Amino acid sequence: MNSFNDISQYRRDFPMLNKTMHGKPLIYFDSAATAQKPKAVIDAISEFYTNHYGTVHRAVYELASCSTKNYQAVRQHLRKFLNAAKEEEIIFTRGTTESINLVAYSFGKAFVHPGDEILISAMEHHSNIVPWQLMCEDRGAVLKVIPMNDSGELLIEEYEKLLNSKTKLVAVTHLSNSLGTINPIKKMIQMAHHAGAKVLIDGAQSTPHMKIDVQDLDADFFVFSGHKLYGPTGIGVLYGKECLLNQMPPYQGGGDMIESVTFEKTTYQKLPLKFEAGTPMIAEVIGLGAAVQYIESIGLDHIGKHEQELLRYATERMQEIPGLKIIGNAQEKGSLISFTLEGVHPLDIGTFLDLQGIAIRTGHHCAQPVMQRFHVFATARASFAFYNTKEEVDIFVAALQDISKKLSRL
Ligand SMILES: Cc1ncc(COP(=O)(O)O)c(C=O)c1O
Repeated sequence: MNSFNDISQYRRDFPMLNKTMHGKPLIYFDSAATAQKPKAVIDAISEFYTNHYGTVHRAVYELASCSTKNYQAVRQHLRKFLNAAKEEEIIFTRGTTESINLVAYSFGKAFVHPGDEILISAMEHHSNIVPWQLMCEDRGAVLKVIPMNDSGELLIEEYEKLLNSKTKLVAVTHLSNSLGTINPIKKMIQMAHHAGAKVLIDGAQSTPHMKIDVQDLDADFFVFSGHKLYGPTGIGVLYGKECLLNQMPPYQGGGDMIESVTFEKTTYQKLPLKFEAGTPMIAEVIGLGAAVQYIESIGLDHIGKHEQELLRYATERMQEIPGLKIIGNAQEKGSLISFTLEGVHPLDIGTFLDLQGIAIRTGHHCAQPVMQRFHVFATARASFAFYNTKEEVDIFVAALQDISKKLSRL
């Protein structure tokens, strides 16, 4: 079956994909920033607020117990989605950023001492850099960086040299949002474990495109955001191994995370509630559950195959454009392409494309060190989801050709 032909049925599920921008049909090539939402997700949230809304955990009445049941069912669903061993290992957060901050704070307090080392990679998003800088400052630890080559691939021999008995944690992205590189995380996790270090995988960009099995990877922590996975904003997941989460102190204090409170002493709930202070994002969790169900109904293998075909086709076609340079040429790549066009500011590329109804991202992609590494101040980035088509790529390439002709000569 040619996946280019059978994807159009799913486009109908996304109301936003029928919109026009500046009088042109919207071509949405910014799913790496945030994905559009299928009707199944919009309806699940609307149905919850319209007919079932109530708080969780705290009340005996029917609505609350029904909300609690639905909320917990999503946790169970996510356990299966990630193949985690236990439901208690799934913590709801506001997103990848909050998940990483939680681990940096809480793992840091439990396990990191002066002189210890934290390893990140040269291609991290700011949200997988800054929390570790804050933690290292707080704990007197040292932050080290795994370098990469000119194709945007991590130098595994250098990684091996950086690992040592002082390394407490390696935090690395699964799929780079600025280069598209897919890192060999299973191997990297094995190497870290061999050195006695734990590993956090930033799965913000990988989770929407490939099957994740945290037990097979043997990841200690795995984090992602709901909004990139066709779910709502304001919801994310932290997977953590139970034995580690149990040893880590709470990240925030408040309602729901306590067992008992007196002015003298407070005791905490067991996992996962220990890490979920306050009234949680109930509707967002319901929406995320609907998103995961939706993705599973299509199949991540099917999704990934189509996106890889789009990546290959777009890469080929974009190379026809004079002056266009792709930043990030790793062997293993996800479906996004960062590029520059000689003589044209990335912002102008974005603005010109917008007038054609094409939405791409321009800027540093919250990865300023990556821009510095490749000696550019910004790039344009087109990112593809399974709802994008080859025809959209053709329109995009034609628009780029037009920009190249008109703007690069100015
Ligand atoms: C690789 C990567 N990590 C982390 C994040 C942060 O995700 P969020 O803003 O949803 O917390 C992003 C978002 O673009 C990302 O691409």
